[in-house]
Amino acid sequence: MLGELVVLKEGVYEEIRQARSLHELEEIRIKYLGRKGIFTSVFKCLVRIPKEERKEIGRLANEIKNKVEALISKKKTKIKRREEDFLKRSSIDITLSPPLPDIAKKHPLTKVLDEIIVIFEGLGFQIEEGPEVESSYYNFDALNIPASHPARDMHDTFYITDEVLLRTHTSPVQIRVMERTKPPIRIIVPGKVYRRDADISHSPMFHQVEGLLVDEDTSFAELKGVLTLFVHRIFGEETRIRFRPSFFPFTEPSAEIDISCVMCKGNGCGVCKTTGFVEILGAGMVDPEVFKAVGYDPERFSGFAFGMGVERIAMLKYGIDNIRLFFENDLRFLEQF
Ligand code: PHE
Repeated sequence: MLGELVVLKEGVYEEIRQARSLHELEEIRIKYLGRKGIFTSVFKCLVRIPKEERKEIGRLANEIKNKVEALISKKKTKIKRREEDFLKRSSIDITLSPPLPDIAKKHPLTKVLDEIIVIFEGLGFQIEEGPEVESSYYNFDALNIPASHPARDMHDTFYITDEVLLRTHTSPVQIRVMERTKPPIRIIVPGKVYRRDADISHSPMFHQVEGLLVDEDTSFAELKGVLTLFVHRIFGEETRIRFRPSFFPFTEPSAEIDISCVMCKGNGCGVCKTTGFVEILGAGMVDPEVFKAVGYDPERFSGFAFGMGVERIAMLKYGIDNIRLFFENDLRFLEQF
């Protein structure tokens, strides 16, 4: 009996030492100290032991039982304290502000378009719009691009029927506005245009902003002034600007406008093909044939027009090398603006 008590003692001490939770500890307590527990049966056995040994064994059993009670209560305190510490360290701070949800930002094209519009509105230009599905008359004929004209090949047009197409530029809105109003006219026309073209700098759909000013004596000098101011506002005062003679059927004389390369500051790089300049605008004085098409007297009125690609300006402004990035809606790209 004495040996059994020693084994029992070692076993229960070890179990208490191993206990990790209050629940485990309670199970141990029930197992040993409960009404039907091991110590109850030990004391029941005592009656069967010869009297001389009974006293000694009883005393030892009592001692072990008391020790077990003490150990369990000590361990209980220890586990409780550990749990409290853990809660203190990891507890939820309800005064903490919750993380903010992702807030939508403006698309880089919208940002650039907004900037362009603000600059021209400051110069007294008003916004006009026109249809994206256009007739070949407005897109070509009225702009002095007859069917036989080689310039019609300049545009890779999406035709819907022989007479109906997706506009290849915003210039048809010049005609629509001149048809319904009289000079002075001072408008800009932002909008989508379509061409059969797709590579890293061309997309089948892209955005243009057209400008048109018509009055009694408008000069090329004014055109230069307006566009120079625009370039300086959008790309910075240090940007140099170059007017290069060019051709458009609806303007005469015509020019293409280059700016010093924003990437290399004019030193020559891959973007400007080592020329130090990049093209950003087409422009010119409104061709008399266009005035005739809308019933304006070309002897009395003069004007200038210009057109620019919004994607191109955004690409140069932000150093984006692939036009597709604008249309893929990849948040990793969009979140940078
Ligand atoms: N419409 C021309 C284009 O799309 C740009 C332009 C507009 C040129 C107005 C001159 C005047 O290329």
